[in-house]
Amino acid sequence: MYPSSPLQAPLWSAVASLTHARRMLEVGCGHGYTSAVMASSGGPDCLVETVEADQVHADLAQEAFLHRGLAKRVHVLRGRGQTILPKLKGKYDVVFLDGDWREYPRYLPQLRRLTRPGSIVVTANLSPLFGGWGGRLPGKRAIQSYLSRLVGDPSFRTYIIPSDWHAISVRL
Ligand SMILES: C[S@@+](CC[C@H](N)C(=O)[O-])C[C@H]1O[C@@H](n2cnc3c(N)ncnc32)[C@H](O)[C@@H]1O
Repeated sequence: MYPSSPLQAPLWSAVASLTHARRMLEVGCGHGYTSAVMASSGGPDCLVETVEADQVHADLAQEAFLHRGLAKRVHVLRGRGQTILPKLKGKYDVVFLDGDWREYPRYLPQLRRLTRPGSIVVTANLSPLFGGWGGRLPGKRAIQSYLSRLVGDPSFRTYIIPSDWHAISVRL
């Protein structure tokens, strides 16, 4: 389980502020580090929903949210992104993808459906495509397919951040 780097924490304050975030979605909760940072960045009126496929990770994250007084502001949705996303309703101001990239191509129609103009989608784990970590892991094709479709999608304007290898997509 690899939490995102604390050096990326300021990103969430910027993203929360730019989108006036009241509702954020994460796929890949892990032990809850980033969702806690997202919740803190959004402030007390912001709800973070975070999808986690692994029951042990979900349990540990929920425990951590309870300890930190964040249980009302961060809800763990148990299951795989590809199963949960189609069931979600309404719009999110911020979406963070940090799970199994082999599912990413299937998320594209859901990303359009679940965002409004001005929403921001942050996609992690693009590094295997660009010679960074994970180059030998399976699923490069899925990342490539996802990224080329996202970059060409007229509903989004996408910027790729070198070194972090995140994509930041603004919903148009
Ligand atoms: C890199 S960790 C997430 C770290 C977390 N975002 C953070 O920065 O603290 C990836 C997590 O995604 C979960 N995961 C992987 N594929 C998933 C999927 N398709 N749907 C939901 N969760 C998934 C894994 O079980 C793992 O806990």
